[in-house]
Amino acid sequence: MLIQIPNVLTQEEVAQARKELDATSWVDGKVTAGFQSAQVKQNMQLPESNPVGIELGRKIVYALHRNPLFFAAALPAKIFPPLFNRYDGGHSFGNHVDNAVRRVTATGEQIRTDLSMTLFLSSPEEYDGGELIIDDTYGSHSVKLPAGHMVLYPSTSLHRVTPVTRGSRVSSFFWLQSMIRSDAQRSLLLNLDLAIQKVGTDLPNHASLVDLTGVYHNLLREWVEV
Ligand code: NI
Repeated sequence: MLIQIPNVLTQEEVAQARKELDATSWVDGKVTAGFQSAQVKQNMQLPESNPVGIELGRKIVYALHRNPLFFAAALPAKIFPPLFNRYDGGHSFGNHVDNAVRRVTATGEQIRTDLSMTLFLSSPEEYDGGELIIDDTYGSHSVKLPAGHMVLYPSTSLHRVTPVTRGSRVSSFFWLQSMIRSDAQRSLLLNLDLAIQKVGTDLPNHASLVDLTGVYHNLLREWVEV
C-alpha cells in the first residue's frame, strides 16, 4: 500500500532544514547504494555521520512519533536514521529495489526494510522532473508532494526518480522495519483501524466499537513481531 502522510514537518521546520542542508557539504550518493543500484544512481547525499543530517533526522523521527496516521499505517518497530539526498543538473535514479537489510553504522543495528519513505523538502514549484515513480501490481504511481509531506511505500517495490531538469530536489529518505512484516496484513489492519475511527466519530456510543477494537488488537497480536 502506498500512503501519503501530509504535514510531517511544518513550513517553518522545512525552511530551517533547507537553510542548514544548503550550508553543509554533500557527497556522491553512491555511498549507500548496493551493487545494482550504484549503476543507476546519480545524486548527492549527506554522509550518515554528518551532524546536520543526524540532528534533522532526529527531528523527523520525533515528528513521526507524534503522527497518528504514520503510526497506524507503519506500525513501526525500528526506524533507520533518516538520510538526505539532492538531485539537480539532470540527476536521476534509475529502476531499483532497495536493499533488504540496512545496518546503522553508529550502532551496528540491523533493520529489515519493510517500508521505504521519502519526505519532500523542496516544493514542487522549485524543480522540474524529479518524480518518484513507484511500480506496484496496479501499475506505476508518480509521486511529487509539497514540502513537508511524506510518502510511505513497500520496500519490495521497483522504483525510480526521473531526471531533475531545473532547480533542486532535496528530500529525506529512509526505511523502517514494521511490527507487521506482511504488507497485506498491515494494509488490512490500517483499513480496520480507519473504519473503527470513523464509526467512533459517527456513532461514538455504538456497542460494536468494543468488539471491533478487540478484533483489531487480537489480529495485531496474532501477527505482530516484537
Ligand atoms: Ni530507492
